[in-house]
Amino acid sequence: MHHNPIAIDDLSYTYADGTQALSHINLAIAAGERVALVGANGCGKSTLLLHLNGILSPQAGRITVGEYPMVKEHLQTIRNFVGLVFQNPDDQLFMPTVWEDVTFGPMNQGLQGKELLHRCHHCLYAVGLDPEKYASRNPDNLSGGEKQRVAIAGVLAMQPQILVLDEPTAQLDPRSRRQLIELLRQLPMTQLMATHDLDLALDLCDRTIVLSHGQLVCQGPTAQVLSDQTFLQQHHLELPLSYSRPYCQLDHAPVEAKSALPVG
Ligand SMILES: Nc1ncnc2c1ncn2[C@@H]1O[C@H](COP(=O)(O)OP(=O)(O)OP(=O)(O)O)[C@@H](O)[C@H]1O
Ligand SMILES: [Mg+2]
Repeated sequence: MHHNPIAIDDLSYTYADGTQALSHINLAIAAGERVALVGANGCGKSTLLLHLNGILSPQAGRITVGEYPMVKEHLQTIRNFVGLVFQNPDDQLFMPTVWEDVTFGPMNQGLQGKELLHRCHHCLYAVGLDPEKYASRNPDNLSGGEKQRVAIAGVLAMQPQILVLDEPTAQLDPRSRRQLIELLRQLPMTQLMATHDLDLALDLCDRTIVLSHGQLVCQGPTAQVLSDQTFLQQHHLELPLSYSRPYCQLDHAPVEAKSALPVG
């Protein structure tokens, strides 16, 4: 694998209505790195991620994925090794059944028969969905968290070398969230994830990048970036819970809760 599977050079992007979403982003991600992309609502995280498999094309600046510059003639190649999980699973799931959705990508890559069956079963199990129970379900009728897990399974089934996830835990219950964290930890590929779950970033990602109003305002080792409360507040972020725990005295909570009950 190339030394920097993702290289972004002076990337800017303005939407058709004039909203400037990204401004002069420079970023390199090394092979095997796991990186968190954090920042307030509307700071540009999704816009940045949508550039990584060519859904949005750079208006200014350059993107290189592996050894390929992000231009039309390399788009198909790039999409074969960048797997992008959308923020909203409804944007991703489009087949009438879960099974057709999860097999769609690998089938397009030429996988068939037993291999296809095994890989897709494996990916559904990996996200905590029993294929027996879910294969024939219509994605439209699944719960938010189930949809999110199907979307992740479908991307994993393509065995991308670079995994890009947009808010992968947003709709997951605590145990599914924990299972996903452990799954991602075991996966060897390069990973970039946009997240508001700062504890996930702390737990999983070596490096954290902070976006603010379309600009990259900070990047560094996660533990360092996410421990600077003043900086985080400036950018509408908060300390991860695991850093702020000493301040919330759990043993006092029941007393306060009791005194807050209406009398009589
Ligand atoms: N299709 C669009 N047309 C116009 N503006 C858009 C469009 N999509 C996003 N934007 C704007 O671009 C900016 C960046 O949006 P983006 O979705 O990238 O933010 P985000 O960091 O992913 O936010 P969130 O945390 O809410 O997911 C915002 O100001 C948003 O309003
Ligand atoms: Mg987003």
